[in-house]
Amino acid sequence: MPVDNTIYDRPGDLWWHEDGLLAAIRTLLNPGRMEYLRQVFAGAGIDPATTTVVDIGCGGGLLAEELARLGCRVTGVDPSAASLAVAREHATSGGLEVEYLRGTGEALPFVDAAFDIACCCDVLEHVRDLERVISETSRVLKPGGLYLYDTINRTVRSRLVLIELLQEWSWTRLIPPNLHDWHQFIRPSDLVSIMARHGLRSLGYTGLSPRAGPLELLRLLRLLRRRKQGRLTQVELGRQAAMKLSADTSILYIGHAVRTPARPPGAPGPRTRPPGGRGSRRLRRHGLWLT
Ligand SMILES: C[S@@+](CC[C@H](N)C(=O)[O-])C[C@H]1O[C@@H](n2cnc3c(N)ncnc32)[C@H](O)[C@@H]1O
Repeated sequence: MPVDNTIYDRPGDLWWHEDGLLAAIRTLLNPGRMEYLRQVFAGAGIDPATTTVVDIGCGGGLLAEELARLGCRVTGVDPSAASLAVAREHATSGGLEVEYLRGTGEALPFVDAAFDIACCCDVLEHVRDLERVISETSRVLKPGGLYLYDTINRTVRSRLVLIELLQEWSWTRLIPPNLHDWHQFIRPSDLVSIMARHGLRSLGYTGLSPRAGPLELLRLLRLLRRRKQGRLTQVELGRQAAMKLSADTSILYIGHAVRTPARPPGAPGPRTRPPGGRGSRRLRRHGLWLT
């Protein structure tokens, strides 16, 4: 069954409210993501203060805000107007400057080579045209710029945990049907090949996984039950089940790639005008979006 992306347009705060449907992402995934990102920044000698980042599929801004807090100049882009409204409101109330724009990964509203870094976390398994999203990401990155992503592997284990346990079985399910479709999960080797076709050379990836061991599975089941019974909030569930960087890529993996200097063969010529839409004042000021 195809992924249902209308979930992100539901009214209310799905992202930051203690019990918001997607609020567990912040405590479940962001600590591992940020650890990986800090390692990449340190390894590449990146100074956040001079770094422009686009967060593709930013949703309510859970990751965009972490990047802004590091000191990066962040632009978030997402197709969901409702999620963007939550993101804007939350950044403003927290005194953070993040630019949010409506758009899809398949048609990014930016000129070529606009950003030093592109992030795309927990999004690739939701998009309609993966190949197009990767091609657009490569286009908006400066040569030598970095691509950081995380996504879900297509394995028996990911089917068991993310589809059966979290989405299907009435005893444990917590997320709406069709939030994920197992067939849209992506094997790392496939993603590395797609990126290579579009001028993004993989620099490696690693697993994001719960602690290992049979007792841990029992602990996870108990946490899901406590959440279902209302004895844990979404945010607390995420905190207690937090994913760690590990060698186990069987469910989630996080990786990065570099935009190779040469334009990939067959790619369209340079674009100085983004596809459709009008630019925001800040992007125009920085020359990223020309109108
Ligand atoms: C699971 S959420 C992840 C949000 C955010 N990246 C995070 O980790 O907190 C998936 C997001 O992908 C967005 N999305 C769905 N289809 C997309 C597309 N074609 N291009 C860009 N974003 C998309 C959704 O609107 C949603 O905000």
